[in-house]
Amino acid sequence: MKKLTLLLTLLTSTLSLADRIAIIGAMDSEIKILLSQMKNIEQEEKASVVFYKGKLENKDVVVFKSGIGKVNAAMSTTIAMEEYDVNKIIFTGVAGAINNNLNITDVVVSDYLVQHDYDTTVFGTKKGAVPGSVDAKFSADKNLINIAKNSAEKVLGKDKVYVGTIATGDQFIADKKTVQALESEFGAWAVEMEGAAVAHVANLYKTPVVVIRSMSDKADGSAHMNYNDFVNIAADNSAKIVINMLSQM
Ligand code: ADE
Repeated sequence: MKKLTLLLTLLTSTLSLADRIAIIGAMDSEIKILLSQMKNIEQEEKASVVFYKGKLENKDVVVFKSGIGKVNAAMSTTIAMEEYDVNKIIFTGVAGAINNNLNITDVVVSDYLVQHDYDTTVFGTKKGAVPGSVDAKFSADKNLINIAKNSAEKVLGKDKVYVGTIATGDQFIADKKTVQALESEFGAWAVEMEGAAVAHVANLYKTPVVVIRSMSDKADGSAHMNYNDFVNIAADNSAKIVINMLSQM
């Protein structure tokens, strides 16, 4: 009897140690390749989000399209945390380039993420900081950053990969003034609409997170033109990096 209890304890602790990785994109184009390569898919809809549970590169994953913007990102990430026993989070997708070194289709791996439209500065907080926390930025996980950087360099080449701050807000940025402000206020390399919301939830759950973004546009006046031409190439770049990451995890 004692032996059986020990065996059961060991088994349950081993099971709960198993990884399940949440892989999130905001749009269909950002998760298309992932879904096409997944095995043993079981799908479930919750709060209008379809969660695809299964295997990718032989790893347990739950892949889903969050929808665009911070509320969609936060809500769907929270459901994944509560319902799918997730212990790592990877966000994959496209972004607008802020730093001048970046070319379209280059990749930024997040070291930090910030909600650029979060503003309670009238009460003496830092721009972007959630009241109650000193820092405006959420950290990504060092180990996931390293894996993402290595994979990105393998998939795209060293000269196309950067690690830096990603700024998030409920706005599609398409003007030079905002680009300059995001760079000077936050040291942002790229701008998008979900990453820091996912990182916020991940940090509350103390769960490792990283965001990978391939540049679809320059976030300046030409953003809408670049975007339509490059969104699919950039989305595929980022998803291919995630697949390479999984093969190394
Ligand atoms: N996603 C891709 N490009 C973007 C931009 N310019 N602003 C916000 N989100 C984006």
